[in-house]
Amino acid sequence: MAKSEDAALGLAGAANGLLGSGVARRRLLLAGGAGAGLLAATAAGTSAAADASTPQRVPGAPMSGYGQPAAAEDSVVREGIGSQPGTRGSGASRTPLQALRGTITPSGLHFERHHSGFPTIDPRQHRLLIHGATGRALAFDLEQLHRYPMVTRTQFLECSGNSAVLLRERPVAASCGVIHGLVSTSEWTGVPLSYLLDEAGVGAQARWVIAEGADAGRMNRSVPLAKCLDDAMVALYQNGERLRPENGYPMRLFLPGFEGNMSIKWLRRLELAPQPAMTRDETSKYTDLRPDGRAEGFTFAMGVKSVITSPSPGLALREHGVYQVTGLAWSGRGAIRRVELSADGGRSWVDAEFESTPAPLAQVRFRGAWRWQGQPALLVSRATDTAGRTQPTRGAWIASNGPNGFYHYNAMQQWQVRKDGTVVNSYGV
Ligand code: CO
Repeated sequence: MAKSEDAALGLAGAANGLLGSGVARRRLLLAGGAGAGLLAATAAGTSAAADASTPQRVPGAPMSGYGQPAAAEDSVVREGIGSQPGTRGSGASRTPLQALRGTITPSGLHFERHHSGFPTIDPRQHRLLIHGATGRALAFDLEQLHRYPMVTRTQFLECSGNSAVLLRERPVAASCGVIHGLVSTSEWTGVPLSYLLDEAGVGAQARWVIAEGADAGRMNRSVPLAKCLDDAMVALYQNGERLRPENGYPMRLFLPGFEGNMSIKWLRRLELAPQPAMTRDETSKYTDLRPDGRAEGFTFAMGVKSVITSPSPGLALREHGVYQVTGLAWSGRGAIRRVELSADGGRSWVDAEFESTPAPLAQVRFRGAWRWQGQPALLVSRATDTAGRTQPTRGAWIASNGPNGFYHYNAMQQWQVRKDGTVVNSYGV
């Protein structure tokens, strides 16, 4: 594209092809700024009508009891599935972030992190016990829980070990989902935990709530009482339907913004106590080993973070032209206030646009138009939240968290676009 065309499209002055704000981006494709495919169609004089698909001539498939994704989309599945040696269900699977748009994760693609597989639970038999430092012990079945007012929140859940593979010395060759897919977003619906604690009565000594699941590992964590009285939820529905078995059916704790392992699945017990329980899962793991060798426990909130989901490894650029650089940003300490994009490894930045209004403890999708003409590029995003926190560089994260850091990795991710259009994971920013 000539320099005058650049100016007309608002591309002039952009950093390595990245657009600034305030341009009528909708016209980019129609103005011929897109790739060779569109240009060829226009040049050949083929009209849109002549290119329309032929309708099917025979009756189609009948109705179905439960809809499934299109057959051609069967490659969009959880990835990075792995169990610890000698176990079947102690491990994780990841959301294929690069294959999705919007912010909601389809329930069947929500990441999993199980500590002993997921149990088979009869919802008619399942009870949630609230006991300990309470006025009285109470057990709730599903029908009883349904008589309470519910709330609905669209918020993310992120494993505290998400993206830790980037601490390896060399950048792993893997997709965005394999690297960053231990984060998902759902519309969660359930009963505010504060209602149930009101019902049981909170004893004067109560400061913590020990939450325990009904899985074989009895996954349990200590949660500050203040969080339980604030925005904690006993979730019964995910994206409008009952929880999936692998996401806690028939009920789970949901703690917005907190590291995912605390949102105990298959919730069976909440014990109010004056002290944290120092359970196996909050001492053997989920503590942060600091540079001085001490382990810091109870680091709850997830940091401010963003990642470009497209372009990303596995999504090669097939032709020159204008692309939308898009991704997700989120913070466990507020809403996202700003996302910046760079196409030159962080030397220059432009503001990204949001596709929806950022909300607290929720993911928001960002985008920015970028013209690629075969030049090498280093694509980076950088998020800032309403608490004023900004993503560090990888080097700065390692410097402050030390060589033994593992959880809460939230540094900027850089993708390298090579001359041939392939995209690889890359360090440097
Ligand atoms: Co933590």
